[in-house]
Amino acid sequence: MKKLNPAQKVALEDAARQACGYAYAPYSNFPVGAAVLTDRGQIVTGCNVENASLGLSCCAERVALFNAVSQGQRRIVALAIYTPTETPTMPCGACRQVLREFAAEAVIISLCQGDQRLEISLADLLPKAFSVQRPLERRS
Ligand code: THU
Repeated sequence: MKKLNPAQKVALEDAARQACGYAYAPYSNFPVGAAVLTDRGQIVTGCNVENASLGLSCCAERVALFNAVSQGQRRIVALAIYTPTETPTMPCGACRQVLREFAAEAVIISLCQGDQRLEISLADLLPKAFSVQRPLERRS
C-alpha cells in the first residue's frame, strides 16, 4: 500500500466530494462520489449513475475506475469515496472485485458529512479474492 502525500490526499478527497454533486440517484436518493489516484499522479472521478431499470445502475467506484482505464490508466494507488451521510460508506462487494483488477494494492479512503473517516487496504476489504487460474488438462 503506497503512502500518499498530504497534498495528494486532500486533492483526492476534494475530488470525491465534488463528484458526489454529479451523482444521478433519483431512485435511491443515495448519491455517491468517487475519485481514483493513478500511479502517474492523475485523479479521475466518478459518481453513481442510476437507471429506471434498477439493475442497470452503476456505482460511483466503478464509474471512476472505468473512466481511468478508458483514459489508459490501469494502475490505481488510492480510491476515495464520499457520501453525504453520518458515517462512511464502504464499497459494495461487486466494486471490491472490480477494484481488485486494477487497484489490488490500493488504499480505500471513505469520507462522509460527519467527522468519521475510514482508511483500509483493498486486501483487507476483499480477502481470499477470486482470480482466474489455468484449468488442469481434462481427460476425455
Ligand atoms: N452505490 C455506490 O455508488 N457505491 C457503493 O459502493 C454502494 C452503492 C450506489 C448504487 C446506487 O446508485 C446507490 O448507491 C444505492 O445503492
